[in-house]
Amino acid sequence: MPQKSAVYTHGHHESVLRSHTWRTAANSAGYLLSSLQPQMQVLDVGCGPGTITADLAALVPQGRVTGLERAPEVLAQARETAAGRGLTNVRFEVGDVHALDYPDDTFCVVHAHQVLQHVGDPVQALREMRRVTKPGGIVAVRDADYSAMTWYPEVAGMADWQRLYLRVARANGGEPDAGRRLHAWARQAGFAPEAVTATADTWCYRTPDERSWWSGLWADRTVDSTYARIAMESGHATEEELRRIAAAWRAWGAEEDGWFAVLHGEILCRA
Ligand SMILES: C[S@@+](CC[C@H](N)C(=O)[O-])C[C@H]1O[C@@H](n2cnc3c(N)ncnc32)[C@H](O)[C@@H]1O
Repeated sequence: MPQKSAVYTHGHHESVLRSHTWRTAANSAGYLLSSLQPQMQVLDVGCGPGTITADLAALVPQGRVTGLERAPEVLAQARETAAGRGLTNVRFEVGDVHALDYPDDTFCVVHAHQVLQHVGDPVQALREMRRVTKPGGIVAVRDADYSAMTWYPEVAGMADWQRLYLRVARANGGEPDAGRRLHAWARQAGFAPEAVTATADTWCYRTPDERSWWSGLWADRTVDSTYARIAMESGHATEEELRRIAAAWRAWGAEEDGWFAVLHGEILCRA
């Protein structure tokens, strides 16, 4: 089976999980929710710390959700989240989306949130997601688009953050502008264009609490996470440059008129 592996750019440092654990089915998978039915079997690929996975499990109380992750170290937190909510219809497994260890036609819904931007071969990933989806079932994917992220006001150093992130993510084998490409990847993976509904959606951070949270986690990621280590080891940035970018994030967060929008592409594909 053709397969390319990419390095997961963010890793699972606390500053990264601060962002992932904020996510809910409502704020990250709204485009899918009206298609869910209580008895459905759902696969959540690249589930990370599992807050969206747990929400999906609560929405299919007579069904079952499987959270799949390539990084085993984050699954203890995912299991804890599900257990803390008293969910008994969710399980977590280690695996790689490029080669799913499930028979054809296993799931009613196969979902991936912010995953395909990080994989080495997103078309192969979608082929696999399609293969394990029952005929008539749904493949649902949502990814950000880093070049389309926009903010106000312009603070010195923020554009450097965007340029550096794009370079590091691509050097790791990913595609940070995945959002705009999802529908094209779905076609290449074998979905007929009329079987794919493509939409776009945003997260927007504006209030003092939102700005403080978003700028703080990016400032910390920039100097402390796997991303920081990779950026330095691969020669894309010096420690000094990373510190400057982290300071730019904090300066933006302190701006009274600060506003930040994250654009996402979304696809709902009928198998
Ligand atoms: C940005 S996180 C998203 C986590 C979760 N879906 C969410 O939105 O909160 C991407 C996750 O995909 C996982 N991942 C990356 N490559 C993968 C692969 N080839 N197969 C399965 N999971 C993968 C990473 O380990 C990481 O936990």
